[in-house]
Amino acid sequence: MKTKIISSEEIVSAVELLKNGELIAIPTETVYGLAAPISNPSVGKIFSLKGRPQDNPLIAHVSSIEMAELIGQNLPRLFYQLAEKFWPGPLTLIVEKKDSVPSIVSAGGATIAIRMPSHPLALQIIEKVGEPLVAPSANLSGRPSPTTVQHVLEDFEGKLVAVVDGGQCQYGIESTVLSLVHPTPTLMRPGSIKRSVLESSIDCKISDPEVGGPILSPGMKYRHYAPKAPIRIVQEFPSSGFLNDPFVISRKKIGHFIHRSLQANTFYSFLREADEKKVNEIWVVLDPESVADEALMNRLYRASGIT
Ligand code: TXA
Ligand code: MG
Repeated sequence: MKTKIISSEEIVSAVELLKNGELIAIPTETVYGLAAPISNPSVGKIFSLKGRPQDNPLIAHVSSIEMAELIGQNLPRLFYQLAEKFWPGPLTLIVEKKDSVPSIVSAGGATIAIRMPSHPLALQIIEKVGEPLVAPSANLSGRPSPTTVQHVLEDFEGKLVAVVDGGQCQYGIESTVLSLVHPTPTLMRPGSIKRSVLESSIDCKISDPEVGGPILSPGMKYRHYAPKAPIRIVQEFPSSGFLNDPFVISRKKIGHFIHRSLQANTFYSFLREADEKKVNEIWVVLDPESVADEALMNRLYRASGIT
């Protein structure tokens, strides 16, 4: 099978494929997602194709607040406040799920993660399918998330029926996941929308999951976003080059080494580029601006195997 690349003018065929139970990859403003309609048995294929553990629940993508109300229940005031302010956009909200939501989606749990993507193609596809699309990032489990069609093909060429071409993803890092089923809103995964922005918009502090407590966002327990070469995080790049083939992500200009700037929207591309170049090591030089980016640091540490 050759994986078909569907253009923005051919959205109808993407919708048909989804309704017929085929998995396809779709663009969002964060990363590409591997999508299936929430009620379709094809949801099961997401886990096998990605090699994703069954205990890791999926995010449901909606095109309206009414669609969210079909899968979530007892939605708190905070849900509406946040959805009105940040949707469509890269904020995922965890709420109580309705009984009608298949348990494979919630990995047997009582909650559901919901977001409304802002990518116009994603919104059109969801609307035309007429029900929420569940979609994890469209990468093999453990690989960096895909931010271009090319990345999706690297992992799934010949194994996936089609990918919708929506260009390069705007944010390049996954959505912020915020749980609303705890006494205070809890940040399950830092992401494209910053903690401080959320806090100032709801005028209350956002909590972190309890250390040593139950793992509330199952995905966070798996090693993720990993490139093949080991990552070294350093404050300064050494002046004498003793490595054969380092691949450097930094904001600084560094002699003859390949270097890139450390930025959220291109971070995953660089990890994949390093894999492609078969570099021995990836050196990351930190600077204050990147250290201040909670989501970028989270992905960097996880890619390095530190957390
Ligand atoms: O930006 C994104 O969020 C992308 C695009 C495609 O929308 N999706 C994405 O999905 O990153 P995924 O499956 O790769 O990551 C979802 C994260 C996982 O860590 C998962 O454990 C957590 O959200 N999650 C999903 N449902 C949950 C729930 N009901 N309770 C707690 N955590 C949940
Ligand atoms: Mg993922």
